Amino acid sequence: MQIDVVTLFPEWFDWFRSQRHIANAAAQGHELRTLNPRENTPLSGGQVDDTPFGGGAGMVLRVDVMDHALRSFYGVDPVDLRRERRVIALTPGGRLLDEGLVNELAAEPAVTILCGRYEGFDERIVQHFCSDAVSIGRYVLAGGELAAMVLCDTVLRKQPGALGHADSAAEESFSDALGGDPEYPHYTRPSEYRGWKVPDVLLSGHHEEIRRWRRARSRERGAASEGSSLS
Ligand code: ADE
Repeated sequence: MQIDVVTLFPEWFDWFRSQRHIANAAAQGHELRTLNPRENTPLSGGQVDDTPFGGGAGMVLRVDVMDHALRSFYGVDPVDLRRERRVIALTPGGRLLDEGLVNELAAEPAVTILCGRYEGFDERIVQHFCSDAVSIGRYVLAGGELAAMVLCDTVLRKQPGALGHADSAAEESFSDALGGDPEYPHYTRPSEYRGWKVPDVLLSGHHEEIRRWRRARSRERGAASEGSSLS
């Protein structure tokens, strides 16, 4: 899979790329590239944004700058690019990122992610260059970079070989294997600590009972997570 991130802060991704599962994904042939619209903006002085028409606080990323950046990088009109690959605008009001969307994106061969800054994008960028608008939650970040890392993290860890253990992603929270429920609780040594005991069934060696116990805990968590907090 190839993920391109359009960002004014490409250096933020140097640290991200060095993380184990992202490096593993890269070693398997998956690519995470960045492109900075400021580097070839058609405007003088590295300008990429402007004040909003109609007034108001903040700055807005210009549509002509984004057009130029995408066109020079891909060699096609960005209006056509979104027919070749998913082009995602990150914005607080977009489609909420969940396991379903992650699986959808993880199956794509190529995705481009646009990070907003300041007040976000000129709406024509979203309307004409993007196939999707995605949000990682109903709160406002200072920019799309952290949201892009969240998206890349969750999509790249799904790629075979990204996680150390092949089963790690199969039976995890919200997976089909758990019927979409959160994962069951895990325990490790010591089996008793300050009087807090690990459930007997997990020490029993009865695989079928363990499987049933885990499924039941998962279901309970699924039912409880509808609006409740950790007790
Ligand atoms: N940009 C700023 N806030 C965001 C959010 N919550 N999700 C995606 N992109 C964003």
